[in-house]
Amino acid sequence: MAGRDLEHLERFDRDASLSEPYEWRGFGNTRAHPERWEKDGYLTGYGSTEPNDESLLVVELGGETFAGIVSFRSVDRTGARSCLEIGILLLPEHRAQGIGATAQRLLADYLFTHTIANRLEALTEADNVAEQRALELAGFTREGVLRGRGFARGAWRDAVVYGRVRSDAAPNN
Ligand SMILES: CC(C)(COP(=O)(O)OP(=O)(O)OC[C@H]1O[C@@H](n2cnc3c(N)ncnc32)[C@H](O)[C@@H]1OP(=O)(O)O)[C@@H](O)C(=O)NCCC(=O)NCCS
Repeated sequence: MAGRDLEHLERFDRDASLSEPYEWRGFGNTRAHPERWEKDGYLTGYGSTEPNDESLLVVELGGETFAGIVSFRSVDRTGARSCLEIGILLLPEHRAQGIGATAQRLLADYLFTHTIANRLEALTEADNVAEQRALELAGFTREGVLRGRGFARGAWRDAVVYGRVRSDAAPNN
């Protein structure tokens, strides 16, 4: 993440077409980005249990091309730093080219190397087939359905939960 990436985060907050249908949650506070950038560069200690403690990394292609973001945050309520939830949002023009699967595989490698987390998990809407397949390619296992887990587009939606634990075999792609 670099200062120049803030403009892309602000676009995600005001342009629905960049994240619909699954990641658009309505307009966001674009003024929060410079504040967060100044505070910690979007890399909170990974074990933080503070609200809004999501950390961001940029998915960058050659030539410093911004393709999207990946995120991670602690969801271990004991503070034991054992479980991180990850997320991803790519710009529309960079989807369906293998980047999402690769980015989440690299993120998992990074987190298992540089944190003591034992479990990574990801939730996605039940009909978000691209993300489910990308997670499988990144070594995650489909573990179940969480009914009525999230409110989006005017209705409560089921989520599918995927997990990858440290002892799982790494994907061979
Ligand atoms: C979901 C997302 C991260 C997937 O990344 P991606 O780069 O588009 O996906 P990939 O190119 O790595 O493809 C992964 C798999 O999904 C399949 N796929 C990609 N787009 C698809 C689509 N629209 N419908 C069905 N399958 C799709 C690919 O064919 C591939 O499977 P295969 O190897 O068996 O053929 C990306 O599309 C995105 O950012 N979408 C918007 C935000 C979002 O939904 N984030 C996840 C929220 S939980």
